[in-house]
Amino acid sequence: MIEFSNEITICPMGEEDLDQVLNIEAKSFPHPWLRQHFIDELNSSYGFPLSAFDPSNRLIGYICPMLLLDEGHIMNVAVAPSARGIGVGRLLVQRVLDDCRAENASYVSLEVRESNQSAISLYRKMGFIDMGRRKRYYENGEDALMMEYVF
Ligand SMILES: CC(C)(COP(=O)(O)OP(=O)(O)OC[C@H]1O[C@@H](n2cnc3c(N)ncnc32)[C@H](O)[C@@H]1OP(=O)(O)O)[C@@H](O)C(=O)NCCC(=O)NCCS
Repeated sequence: MIEFSNEITICPMGEEDLDQVLNIEAKSFPHPWLRQHFIDELNSSYGFPLSAFDPSNRLIGYICPMLLLDEGHIMNVAVAPSARGIGVGRLLVQRVLDDCRAENASYVSLEVRESNQSAISLYRKMGFIDMGRRKRYYENGEDALMMEYVF
């Protein structure tokens, strides 16, 4: 049981993490990414996927961001259901903002389902602002909110 987010370590994701990542992915999304999606991110010149570990080295979350010139984008983020609500998602997003800022990014963007209140609340609390919506972006016809963190 983790009690404090300062007990969490964030490191570059490795291929050896993927079994645990896929397990969380399957529990987090109706249309989970396949192993190949993560492998593509690991091999991408622009992607820098990160994993979060608890003190016993269990993978409890991950994030897949990319940085292309000065434009950052978060494509995927999830936390293991048993580790939600203790600050892991915030730490992962903050690490991406810090890394993008260090590389002189102008902004970091993302899309989120309009029904995903926990994620929207996390992003707003961290300073992301609403930039509009993509109509019927998801497979069930749901709109995506487009959000941006501007440096
Ligand atoms: C969204 C998600 C990544 C948040 O991760 P988390 O580690 O639980 O979030 P944190 O504990 O860091 O919470 C940070 C803030 O997010 C918001 N938040 C998180 N969970 C919430 C919930 N269930 N309801 C409302 N707000 C919530 C709060 O504003 C919280 O701030 P607070 O602790 O000051 O109240 C996690 O719920 C998840 O993996 N969901 C499934 C996958 C997903 O939807 N990913 C995002 C796709 S865009």
